[in-house]
Amino acid sequence: MNRREALKNMLAFIPLGAAFTGITAIGFRFITPKKRDLTRRIFTMHLEELPLNSSRKITDLRGKDLVLVRTGEFEVKAMSTVCTHLGCTVYWEKEQQEFYCPCHQGRFDKDGNVISGPPPAPLETYHTEIEGDNIFIYFKEKEG
Ligand code: FES
Repeated sequence: MNRREALKNMLAFIPLGAAFTGITAIGFRFITPKKRDLTRRIFTMHLEELPLNSSRKITDLRGKDLVLVRTGEFEVKAMSTVCTHLGCTVYWEKEQQEFYCPCHQGRFDKDGNVISGPPPAPLETYHTEIEGDNIFIYFKEKEG
């Protein structure tokens, strides 16, 4: 085999090597256990248990407190009660239609956005769904 043939043979293996590398990478992607988010839809209560503009405290699957607020005929908000400033508990103020943190006078609107005070971020929110007379909340969990 002369130099020219040797070079030709080497070049013939480059696409084969690249294809093998790609297949191996894809294989590892499927084989490697990966943590993924699981979303669970959980029934919480019936609409008649939560009158318009009222709130109810519940506990999520991880033991964290949430507050449900009925802001419309078929609209329910769900947020963490943990203030994003220093972790005090926030309360729903029915008359103001706001969440209030008494520790440093932080205020959040009905969507959990900061209105005033020192909180640096919105309240953690949860997706809700009303189906018939049932209120569901979507909780995220990590698997793996
Ligand atoms: S802990 Fe809520 S405003 Fe400071």
